[in-house]
Amino acid sequence: MNMIMFETVSKLLEKRLGGAEFALSLPEISGRGHLSTNAAFILAESEKISPMEAALTLKKYLEGSAPDGFFHTIEIAEPGFLNFWFTERAIQNEFAKALEAGEGWGRPFDSVQGGHTKESKETVIVEYSQPNIAKPMHVGHLRSTIIGDALANIFEFTGRKVIRWNYIGDWGTQFGKLIAVAKKKNPQEALTNIMRDVKASVAVYKEFAEETKNDPELEEEARKEFKKLEDGDKENKALWEESVKASREEIEKVYDILGIKFDVWKGESSYEKELEPLIKRLKKDGIAKESEGALIVPLDDEGLPPGLIRKSDGATLYLTRDIASLEDRINNYKPDTILYVVDNGQSLHFQQLFAVAKKIGIDASRAHHVKFGLVLSEDMKRLSTRSGRHIPLMDVISEAISRARAVVDEKQPELSDVERERISKIIGIGALKYNDLSQNRMSDITLNWDKMLSLEGNSGPYLQYTYARLKSILRKADNVSDFEVGALVSEADHELMLKLLMFPETIESVIETYFPHYLANYLYSLAREVNSYYEKEPVLKAEPAVRNARLHLVQLAADVMRTGLSLLGIGVVERM
Ligand code: ARG
Repeated sequence: MNMIMFETVSKLLEKRLGGAEFALSLPEISGRGHLSTNAAFILAESEKISPMEAALTLKKYLEGSAPDGFFHTIEIAEPGFLNFWFTERAIQNEFAKALEAGEGWGRPFDSVQGGHTKESKETVIVEYSQPNIAKPMHVGHLRSTIIGDALANIFEFTGRKVIRWNYIGDWGTQFGKLIAVAKKKNPQEALTNIMRDVKASVAVYKEFAEETKNDPELEEEARKEFKKLEDGDKENKALWEESVKASREEIEKVYDILGIKFDVWKGESSYEKELEPLIKRLKKDGIAKESEGALIVPLDDEGLPPGLIRKSDGATLYLTRDIASLEDRINNYKPDTILYVVDNGQSLHFQQLFAVAKKIGIDASRAHHVKFGLVLSEDMKRLSTRSGRHIPLMDVISEAISRARAVVDEKQPELSDVERERISKIIGIGALKYNDLSQNRMSDITLNWDKMLSLEGNSGPYLQYTYARLKSILRKADNVSDFEVGALVSEADHELMLKLLMFPETIESVIETYFPHYLANYLYSLAREVNSYYEKEPVLKAEPAVRNARLHLVQLAADVMRTGLSLLGIGVVERM
């Protein structure tokens, strides 16, 4: 048998159902089999028979077509579910293969050759983080950074070529405002300070809003200054560069702490030169048209409001730059897939972008808006007045680390200060990332510090703790030799093996849906399984053949846990 078990069942059902969708899953409740499916309901519908009848048809079909000694039992459960039990031999065989793959377990499995080398050759651009220059990075950017990085890691793990792209917001009318106010403030020193210091810039935005009330001219000034910048004015360009450089330094500090790296930093400003020709083309091809002095792309055929390409004062827009960037990505990087990890709030923008792309003849079907919700503060009372968007990002990161530090100080006072700080970072940042990645990205999330840092329950630290516990068992076992997979015969052994066998399937489900919480949830259920395993079965104290086999089981569990967490961008510690 050359396939992993899940695939065997899934391929057989696919063949019988002729491509119709069905679910195949690991039952949450024990006693419902090793795997179960709703496939009979699908068959019942297409063949106009009752689900129970369809279940019987599928049961007979599967028993007739599965490899010998594969199924132990196929049970039909009202009102038409199928529950499968595999034979011990089938589980053991698969487990032996997983062990052979070792740390590579989870990578695409070549079902024909039985190896682990069949990797996808696709190229995927994952665009994430995308902070804005001369503005503070907020927790919304944090979500994008965490989710995008996890997706990029997971795609890369399957052998795909991943381009991690940071599309920074380094262009736009805000620079006109900054420059206009800054110039009024001469001397030169004050001017540079404003451009260099994000806090000073933020103060200027407020000042600008205030001052335009008394001085409507200022609005006009700002527009002129931005126009000058767009036209390549030397002084303004230098001021802008100052701002970009300083912001980037700040941003890189955040990435350093979070362990984030990009392949491409190509932001909005990179497309300045391409906008004029693009706009001309859109006009010539009759895609864009004038409307009250502005230039728009009507999109009513797509049921969308028109896309604004150029304002009446001639300034280009966010959408215009995104069109140019999409063309650049498609033409120069030849991606099979482009992911934009951006909050729900920009849904309309991306619908418009993809609709305009279609009109230009770009195949935008490979581009996807990977959406996510807001971050809300823990104090529910404050939600109505203050959305999490305004919490400065560095404050959140520091708080996570200092709270983790309190836990580490209490649990491991014997460690050196440096070591405790190192561990606190791994735990604090792991907690922050896991809190985000364990929830459906489409929902709003809260920062509930106690829950996030708890060593029990669905948290990053709980998974890290489980890993450390596995490692501690492995440390105590000195000589682990070759083993007989036949020694793993208890129900708990089977369940843990099966759980580990589900890892590749879990990775695949993230690839198909861009939902990292599938992996996070899998790791959590693995952790629970492992922790209850020790309670049921002795490992170190089992008789030699069983002990040996179980230590291999524990080793693979530790490998999967570490690999899975690292794909989520979360580190582990050996002792906790
Ligand atoms: N910089 C933007 C913001 O902070 C997000 C950019 C999203 N990406 C894109 N291609 N438009 O809101």
